Amino acid sequence: MTIVIAIDGPAGAGKSTVGRAVAAEVGVGYLDTGAMYRAVTHAVLCRGIDPHDTDEVGAVASSIELDIDDIDGRTIVTVDGDDATAAIRGREVTGAVSAVAANSSVRSEMVRRQRDWVAAHGGGVVEGRDIGSVVFPDAALKLFVTASARVRAERRVAELGGDVDEVEASIIERDRKDSSRADSPLVEASGAKVVDTTGMPIDAVVREIVEMLP
Ligand code: DC
Repeated sequence: MTIVIAIDGPAGAGKSTVGRAVAAEVGVGYLDTGAMYRAVTHAVLCRGIDPHDTDEVGAVASSIELDIDDIDGRTIVTVDGDDATAAIRGREVTGAVSAVAANSSVRSEMVRRQRDWVAAHGGGVVEGRDIGSVVFPDAALKLFVTASARVRAERRVAELGGDVDEVEASIIERDRKDSSRADSPLVEASGAKVVDTTGMPIDAVVREIVEMLP
C-alpha cells in the first residue's frame, strides 16, 4: 500500500528529526524537499547566476541532475555528480534559497520530481512547506509541525552554533518570506493536524504522531 505522510512547518521546528523517526517507524523512505530547493540554489550560485533571475534560475532547475538519498539520518545530495551535501547547508545557500523557492518554474519542476520520487519509492514521509497543501493534498496524514521562533533559534544554535538573537531574527525573516510569497506560501494545509513542539522532547512528538497514523 502506498502511504504518504506530509509534514510542513517553519524552519527549525523539528520537521526533519520527526520526519525521519516517523518514516523509520512506518518503514517507508523520507524526502527532505528543502534540500532540493537548496540544491538548485547551490547550482545557481556555482554558475554565477543571480538568484532573482527568473528565467536563468528556472532553466537551472529543469536541467540539473539531482540525486537525493537519506543515509544514516542525513540527506545526501548530489548535483550533476558532485556531492553538495555540505554546501547546501552553508550561509550563502541559506541566504539565497527563499528567492529561488519563490520562482514558479522552480516550484513546478521540484513538485514534479517530488511526485516521481514518491511513485518510485511506493510512498514515504515527505517534508517541506507545501507538501500537504500542493504536492500531496490527498496524503494519508498531514501534519503542520511548529514551535516558537525562540525555541527554534535555540535548537539551531545548539546544533550549529551562533548567536541566538541573530539566528532568531534570520528565522523570523525566512518565515516571513516563505509565508508571504505568491506561489505555494507556507500555510497550514486543510485537514492538517498542528503539532506544536515548543517545550516537547522530540521522542514525545514522534509518539504523538505515530498514534495519529491511520
Ligand atoms: O527546510 P529548509 O530550511 O531546508 O528549506 C529551505 C528553503 O526552501 C526554505 O526557505 C523554504 C523552501 N522550501 C519551500 O519553499 N518548499 C518546500 N517544499 C521546502 C522548502
